[in-house]
Amino acid sequence: MLEASNGKTMPALTIFSHALRFFKEHALQELSDQSSTKILNEDVRWVITVPAIWKAPAKQFMRQAAYDAGISSSEYPDQLLIALEPEAASIYVRRLRLYQLVPEKPTRRPLTPRKDTVPEPMNMDKVSDDIGPGARYMLVDCGGGTVDITVHEMESHGRLKELYKATGGPYGSVGVELEFEKLLDSIFGSEFIEAFRHKRPAGWVDLMIAFESRKRAATPYKNNALNVSLPFSFIDYYKKKKGSQVESAIRKYGDKDIRWSSQGMLRLMPDAMRRLFVPTLEKIRAAIGDVLNTPYVKDIDYMFLVGGFAESQVLQLELRREFGHLLKVIIPQDVSLTILKGAVCYGLDPTVVSLRWSRLTYGVGVLNRFVSGKHPKKKLVKKDGMEWCTDVFDKYVTINQPVGLGDSSLRSYTPAKSGQKSSIINIYCTDCSDVQFITDKGVKKVGTLCLDLSDAQYQQNLPRRREIQTRMVFGDTEIKVSALDVSTGKCVRCTIDFLNK
Ligand SMILES: Nc1ncnc2c1ncn2[C@@H]1O[C@H](COP(=O)(O)OP(=O)(O)OP(=O)(O)O)[C@@H](O)[C@H]1O
Ligand SMILES: [Mg+2]
Repeated sequence: MLEASNGKTMPALTIFSHALRFFKEHALQELSDQSSTKILNEDVRWVITVPAIWKAPAKQFMRQAAYDAGISSSEYPDQLLIALEPEAASIYVRRLRLYQLVPEKPTRRPLTPRKDTVPEPMNMDKVSDDIGPGARYMLVDCGGGTVDITVHEMESHGRLKELYKATGGPYGSVGVELEFEKLLDSIFGSEFIEAFRHKRPAGWVDLMIAFESRKRAATPYKNNALNVSLPFSFIDYYKKKKGSQVESAIRKYGDKDIRWSSQGMLRLMPDAMRRLFVPTLEKIRAAIGDVLNTPYVKDIDYMFLVGGFAESQVLQLELRREFGHLLKVIIPQDVSLTILKGAVCYGLDPTVVSLRWSRLTYGVGVLNRFVSGKHPKKKLVKKDGMEWCTDVFDKYVTINQPVGLGDSSLRSYTPAKSGQKSSIINIYCTDCSDVQFITDKGVKKVGTLCLDLSDAQYQQNLPRRREIQTRMVFGDTEIKVSALDVSTGKCVRCTIDFLNK
């Protein structure tokens, strides 16, 4: 459930599906307008990007929200791909040409070049030319809310090995906004700001939009002041509430870097703007430093900077200054679109990442023949005169095991009763590699595998024994499953559900 500021709640799934529906319709409209042909939903392969740290239930949630929004459906699941953001970003960055990167220092080109100057040739070398097998790079995705850091190592044939699992820290660009809010609190009083925010929400949004555009314009390469226009409702509400002018509050605050301009603007001198960035930059620097100090990821040669916040020249310079002597900092020109463009590349060829590492150990609980000496007594059960060991964790895939695209774990199941219409198998996971029983410490039930056995033909003929072969695929961005009835060769409908445990 998500709660709105007026206290009303709504299921998160509904909100996500509305947002996705809006994007879907907007994208189809835009594509149709641009190409002068009606582009239909069926013509499109959709890609939704998610942070790499998301687990199976969150990805399934996103897929469900997309289905509810009319982006593909459970009948055509392959029309929608879920891409992992650091993978998408790295696919795009590595295929860039060097001239498509942000230069170390901003270049100043005159609008009309002098006649006798020869234009510099564009550097057409690819970023990936340098990054051969064994090279390691760190991908720093600076977003609105979080900064996510991943370390990849290149293997042969463009394969990626993830050395350091993405960590997310709340040091995104919203930290700069929060500092600005704190500044407003100090100048105008936190009670007033709180009241304004609630009583004049539209004015508050205008004010924050005005700040957002100034924040984006902040650059360490220029020395001009940045003016944030205060909405009329702010000036008016302040006068009503406090009985004095906004201007006098600013004067009273007495900071030489924060002034009032006669056009109704809050004027931030470069130093005042820089101060708003400091706490966030500090945290980003520390997070990157922590990763660089992690022993098993040492010898990182490159830092790829991506995400919307990485557009900021303040952030770019700061990270170059701090880390530029340790590794090569690579910033694409259109840095805020890196993930988006990488996701498009991924949609065109999802096999570009051909190897992934299982994030957890997955398996199911089974009965095995009891072997005394090997199996503990308390797991012994007797059935039809036979001795069985119960709760055995049958591993499909082990944590940190490399799984190639298309690699699958095959298992056969025999329904307990011959006329059974469905079979539900519980799926378990753990972050341990040498797990033995589903009752071991740290083992969690994560989902269910549901086999639909209601095939009419079968129900009529009811053979003695039915064998269902399930195939689980772990090398994709999502865990997938399919099942086959061995004797008829027919597919058995099956679903894997991580949301309703
Ligand atoms: N030039 C700029 N300077 C500072 N911040 C910027 C600039 N351009 C964009 N941003 C910030 O980047 C953020 C959007 O980046 P992005 O699209 O990567 O975020 P996101 O992926 O939605 O967030 P998250 O990854 O945290 O979920 C916005 O908060 C915006 O304020
Ligand atoms: Mg992001």
